[in-house]
Amino acid sequence: MHNYPTIADAAGRRLGEEEESAVLRVLRSGHLWRVDGAEVVALEREFAAFTGSAHAVAAATGSGVIHAAVAALDLEPGDEIVMPPITDAGSLVGALAQGLVPVFADVDPVTGCLTAESVREVLGARTRAVMVVHLFGGAADVEGIVALCRPHGIRVVEDCAQAYLTRTPGGALAGTVGDIGCFSLQQSKHITTGDGGLLVTDDAELARRAALFTDKGWPRDTGERTHLFLGLNYRMNELTAAVARVQLGKVASVVEDRRAIAEAWSTAIAAPGVTVPHHTGHSYWLYPIVVDAATAGFDNRRLAELVNGTGLGASAGYLQRPLYANPVIAQRRTFGASGWPLTLSDRGAPHCPAAERLIGETLVTVSINENFTPDDVRASTESLRWAIAEAGSTRG
Ligand SMILES: Cc1ncc(COP(=O)(O)O)c(C=O)c1O
Repeated sequence: MHNYPTIADAAGRRLGEEEESAVLRVLRSGHLWRVDGAEVVALEREFAAFTGSAHAVAAATGSGVIHAAVAALDLEPGDEIVMPPITDAGSLVGALAQGLVPVFADVDPVTGCLTAESVREVLGARTRAVMVVHLFGGAADVEGIVALCRPHGIRVVEDCAQAYLTRTPGGALAGTVGDIGCFSLQQSKHITTGDGGLLVTDDAELARRAALFTDKGWPRDTGERTHLFLGLNYRMNELTAAVARVQLGKVASVVEDRRAIAEAWSTAIAAPGVTVPHHTGHSYWLYPIVVDAATAGFDNRRLAELVNGTGLGASAGYLQRPLYANPVIAQRRTFGASGWPLTLSDRGAPHCPAAERLIGETLVTVSINENFTPDDVRASTESLRWAIAEAGSTRG
């Protein structure tokens, strides 16, 4: 079995001496929190510039920054937010905490992302926002979704936790097309501080509200000790920001190296019934393969099992079940036994056949890593080619 670098430790992360000295710089200063500090403010300025946005706001986690984004929209309990069922729970939990009702729309059968058509199908009188997830680093048609939503005054938040430097179908940077774009610095992401999050927006009011939300609604810059609305403490600290600033300088090379590996894989593993990502704007947080069992002769479980046997990490379906089939939604495990805010909706149980098929039958995600050596690239390409041929021949 080949031993590959993974995101679990230093072998598969680009954390080096610059991060070490950034941590020491802050530690020795003795000023570790963001209030009156220099690092988080600088990170926000640098991240805004990196995405070409007017404003950026940092938070302690990606889920926290998504929560801040949703809170900044200032919606009413019972208002609906459309989202895909194939995503991390971080796309969902902030909305629930704000009293919003998630409405799950189906996804494209290959990309796993929402489409303008699937969003249109679920729009209702109370739809106020859409959470567009750029899954695995592949772009959703966010331009199409924004064009659908804008005439109705529906806000669009982009979840780019898996999508640094992803290009949208319209050629924009993912995260800059909707009203707010949200990024994560969690351990497994393209760049990491262990945990952390950043959002970007061109809307000064949204930025202000999001920033206040991460600090208990406290407008410290006015000198007044007051709390303007319900906010939490999601402040990022200075140590995290100092590391994030160094990591940001590396994200372009991380994405470039992942793209080169993905290209080698995609060229090598073409086979009937096997669809690989092909759009150049993909940033490959994971490498998704979609198999059509009827043509290929095998399903996602068989392929994932074979790939895993070679030492290369693979998952059948990415999730064990769609987000809506987890107890938090299916059994309304939210606030005590109240079921709130899900009780505010009279929509029936969600059902997204394309998403269920991806998870249950067709999708395999393969772990890809920027620190693969040429030998790792050669071995992984060979292993994928072998696994697909083997799966097709044994029809297990
Ligand atoms: C698509 C997506 N959204 C949200 C999150 C939540 O980010 P975090 O783990 O930083 O809270 C993640 C990752 O965990 C994610 O992959």
